[in-house]
Amino acid sequence: MSRKTIAVLCSGGDAPGMNAAVRSVVRAALARGWHVLGVERGYQGLLEERLNIMTHRSVSGIIHRGGTVLKTSRSRRFRTPEGVKRAAEVLREYKISALVVIGGNGSCRGLLDLSEHWNGQTIALPGTIDNDLNGTDYTIGYDTAVNVALEAIDRLRDTAESLERTFIVEVMGRDSGFNALDVALAAGAEQALIPEVPVSLGDVLANVQAARAKGKTSNILVVAEGFPPGGAASVARYLTEHDNPDFYRLCVLGHVQRGGAPTAKDRLLATRLGAAAVEALDQGASGVLVGEIAGRSTQTPLRQAVDVRKPAATELLDLLDILSR
Ligand code: F6P
Repeated sequence: MSRKTIAVLCSGGDAPGMNAAVRSVVRAALARGWHVLGVERGYQGLLEERLNIMTHRSVSGIIHRGGTVLKTSRSRRFRTPEGVKRAAEVLREYKISALVVIGGNGSCRGLLDLSEHWNGQTIALPGTIDNDLNGTDYTIGYDTAVNVALEAIDRLRDTAESLERTFIVEVMGRDSGFNALDVALAAGAEQALIPEVPVSLGDVLANVQAARAKGKTSNILVVAEGFPPGGAASVARYLTEHDNPDFYRLCVLGHVQRGGAPTAKDRLLATRLGAAAVEALDQGASGVLVGEIAGRSTQTPLRQAVDVRKPAATELLDLLDILSR
């Protein structure tokens, strides 16, 4: 009987811990005697046939590195019917029987599309700093991204205190407020503005002014990228137009949050999930997202992982309000 051949790729926005996941998938699969191909540049690389044989040495010295050594992409071609069919053909040509994709929501959708044209096993691992995937409590990269933002905000607090200013800090999260909520609570910020809970800019200003009247000499507002109408820039514009502009400064953390060495928590999660993905393949699983809920390894149908919205803990906004008075 020929050896089982599996492929692994990273897709969409990179997330710290992806390398630890790749390492774990590769070495757990090699331990079973399987053949492993690493696909460079995500689904786009599959279309371009950028597949390399992975050995133990291919994943040496990467567990502590941010980004992904496999590189990643947001492939336009793969999103076309022709692209998906071609990707399925490549998988057949290389006699791949299972594909592990590490990525976020869009990457899981891509895997679902692919499974309509290819009957190999498909497993997704949650790799995104957004934490917005249903089927896992935490995604790979989220903990690092929150910690990176916290470190930056701790620094901003020093200058905010010294000049008695309000900093409007944007964190990532196009559609969800996971980052903004956790970062705001852990940083002791005064307000968190998230896409799920629209607040009028007039109320934001009133809260800042009330805090100032109570003797608060600095304010930190943590704004999710997706807060309407235009993230932190629109909040900053409103505040500077309706109050003394000297009081306000804007800081967009953006992609800074995606970089740097993964935290221990992300390395461990990625390592466990990578091994669990291989175990799931060995047991014949397919079409699932392998995650962890309440400390237990879980498998969630891909359709459910992408179509059911994972709710951010918006009740934490009340706690933030109480604690920041
Ligand atoms: O999906 C992860 C993420 O970092 C989002 O938070 C953000 O909106 C998006 O990627 C940014 O994408 P890009 O790197 O393509 O600018």
